[in-house]
Amino acid sequence: MKAREIVDGVAAVIFDLDGVLVDTAVFHYRAWKRLAKQFDFDFTEVENEQLKGVSRVDSLNLILKWADKDVPAAEREQLASLKNTWYLELVENMKEGDVLPGTIDLLTYLKATDKKIALGSASKNAVRILEKTGIRHYFDAILDGNAVKNSKPDPEVFLKAATAVGVAPSGCVVLEDAQAGIDAARAANMQVIAVDKSYTLANYDVRVDDLSEILISDY
Ligand code: BG6
Ligand code: MG
Repeated sequence: MKAREIVDGVAAVIFDLDGVLVDTAVFHYRAWKRLAKQFDFDFTEVENEQLKGVSRVDSLNLILKWADKDVPAAEREQLASLKNTWYLELVENMKEGDVLPGTIDLLTYLKATDKKIALGSASKNAVRILEKTGIRHYFDAILDGNAVKNSKPDPEVFLKAATAVGVAPSGCVVLEDAQAGIDAARAANMQVIAVDKSYTLANYDVRVDDLSEILISDY
């Protein structure tokens, strides 16, 4: 099955945000690296790969574990909030149109073909980013880190997105760049297109380098 056939065959497309629609993964990386430096931990891109799709608090807990650092809960909250402040400083520089290749063409095509469009993101900053980049108006439903109790790989965010647009899970496809997100989509019984330039992900239906490949019928 090709990516385009999957998209044409569903009633709803559910997008992950970071790394699928916008290039914010690098901002998360820079902000975590800056925080890790505070406790002399050399946080690299190798560790960062494991944080894709993982919530803010779970990411911090993993970094503290890797750094072998014991931090009380109240202080953990401060660290997470400091990281978020630095992250948002980078987000503030984003402008309308700062989206990954193929994003606008795909959203426009989905609107023209009467598909429901939803966001299913772990980020609590999702709305801000959609607004800054000028793509919020395409979405029929936005489900983000503020809307769920259980983060990916739990299917909650995708199931809620499907409910919000009134489509059964079997009629949805999820676009994801993280293994936690693919596993969440699978647990929700949805089809999955992986956005995975480096061929590191597994358990998807189709893989593309980026969204610009989806409307090309060869992929
Ligand atoms: C996911 C990112 O989309 O959102 C993770 O892949 C990030 O890296 C998570 O930790 C939570 O984001 P935020 O914006 O709420 O800190
Ligand atoms: Mg992502």
